[in-house]
Amino acid sequence: MSDDLTDGMAADDMAVVPEVALLPAPRRVTVPPSGGVGFVLDEETGIEAEPGTEGVARWLRASVGAATGLPLAPHRSGPNRLLLRILPGLAAEPGGAPGAGIGGPEAYRLRADGQVLAIDGASAAGVFRGAQTLRQLLGPDAFRRAPVSARRAWHVPAVTVEDAPRFRWRGMMLDVARHFTPKEGVLRHLDLMAAHKLNVLHLHLTDDQGWRIEIKRYPKLTELGSWRSRTKFGHRASPLWEEKPHGGYYTQDDIREIVAYAAERHISVVPEIDIPGHSQAAIAAYPELGNTDVIDTTSLTVWDTWGISHNVLAPTDNTLRFYEGVFEEVLELFPADAVPSAGCSEFVHIGGDECPKDQWRRSPAAQARIRELGLADEDGLQSWFVRHFDTWLAARGRRLIGWDEILEGGLAPGAAVSSWRGYGGGVAAARAGHDVVMCPEQQVYLDHRQDAGPDEPVPIGYVRTLGDVYRFEPVPPELTPEEARHVLGTQANVWTEVMEDPARVDYQTYPRLAALAEVAWSALPAPADRDLAGFERRMTAHYRRLDALGVAYRPPTGPRPWQRRPGVLGRPIEGPPPAL
Ligand code: ACM
Repeated sequence: MSDDLTDGMAADDMAVVPEVALLPAPRRVTVPPSGGVGFVLDEETGIEAEPGTEGVARWLRASVGAATGLPLAPHRSGPNRLLLRILPGLAAEPGGAPGAGIGGPEAYRLRADGQVLAIDGASAAGVFRGAQTLRQLLGPDAFRRAPVSARRAWHVPAVTVEDAPRFRWRGMMLDVARHFTPKEGVLRHLDLMAAHKLNVLHLHLTDDQGWRIEIKRYPKLTELGSWRSRTKFGHRASPLWEEKPHGGYYTQDDIREIVAYAAERHISVVPEIDIPGHSQAAIAAYPELGNTDVIDTTSLTVWDTWGISHNVLAPTDNTLRFYEGVFEEVLELFPADAVPSAGCSEFVHIGGDECPKDQWRRSPAAQARIRELGLADEDGLQSWFVRHFDTWLAARGRRLIGWDEILEGGLAPGAAVSSWRGYGGGVAAARAGHDVVMCPEQQVYLDHRQDAGPDEPVPIGYVRTLGDVYRFEPVPPELTPEEARHVLGTQANVWTEVMEDPARVDYQTYPRLAALAEVAWSALPAPADRDLAGFERRMTAHYRRLDALGVAYRPPTGPRPWQRRPGVLGRPIEGPPPAL
């Protein structure tokens, strides 16, 4: 199945050797002048895990141990040893995150010689990132779940890799509301993210089309709100329907498992509960949350098609108390210290995007609220919602993040912004001293099509190729170095309206998430100077890893026959995306 991917590629390209095919690209790879023999992992190799690195040893046994069939037993001193060690001083080495001038907690150094393979990290997270590099150095079969041959010796070339990420927030947003990804699939995405040194999974848990997280005090959110009776197939203008119920949700124990599984991989899970728009599923479950003086909210159901529902939350005290109850449970499930040294677990996403104001304009109760609060207009109501939860979260030691609409009507003091409508929101936020995650839809929305060809399944939006994502720059050039420090990083957003199953999610996400991972991790030059050809050469080796991991990515030659969706309407936008 993998051989045809190399169609049209020169034989020379296939000779890429693993040590130059690391992805994301590390800061520095050196080989000893003598060449060196490297390190061999075999039956006798043991792991010496110094204090704090026990989790990395566990992960190595569970992944590399399973793939190689080697025991990787606990081992103290002596030769043939895989040494895992925390060296806090690595955090202070030059060449790390911009502005900080340090390597940061995820800095690591991997050194392979004939006796010892040492992975030193500035923290356990750094050691874990180094372990990902080790797996890449072992070759693609190290990404399988069981050995595929009788081979008992695995060679690591004599290299020293010194590495640290450019950004603190390197993420993927997964929309589990439009199409549900069952827990098992989320755990798999966490494994794939770990392999790419990504560290934030932003879970879009609620929307008009479904509520996906169990909230004990409001059971109807999942009893009623977690499923819809049918689903639009394709873009909303498509005449096709999937005439069967769609749904699912994570129990609180599922969430605890996801958060713990992520933490073991030094990945923070940032939950998003979208308010005050994108809330029809919640209103369908609890009609009193809606604008009952404008529409009969008792007749609402979980939405079965795509777009922006006009059924938004009513700006009442009852709504605030209800969502405080939701967030109380959310905070318990997503603890701020889930990923201690290198995480972003203090953040809670409140959405805030695309809230149509027409019901508030028509609602006497909402208008009375505007007067009572002394607000200028409906935008003021939106920022009143956001400010309420900013204060509420801050009082509990947490930080609010929301889509860039939360800038409208004035940004709450501690809020951070996911800049999705371009650079603009992020620039404004950074200039005002707020932190920003750059994820402009023109560049890193992975629901957008990957090619202009007619075979692209359910084509949506602009053509955003692998190379386009590789040339995305998260820091807008107009920011001063001081302002640029507010760019926490970047994430790719996987909106799932037209991704009805895991294979479709894989297809839209990979290989482009690999490019985003390099943009987020590696110290790349300005977009025009990026070595796209070199990246594509390393991708040749990386496709072998994705094959071993069982990722249904889009091959560089185009979709396989079963990846096409003939006859399902999309909404391609012609021409290049507008400037950021
Ligand atoms: C968004 O794409 N509505 C954040």
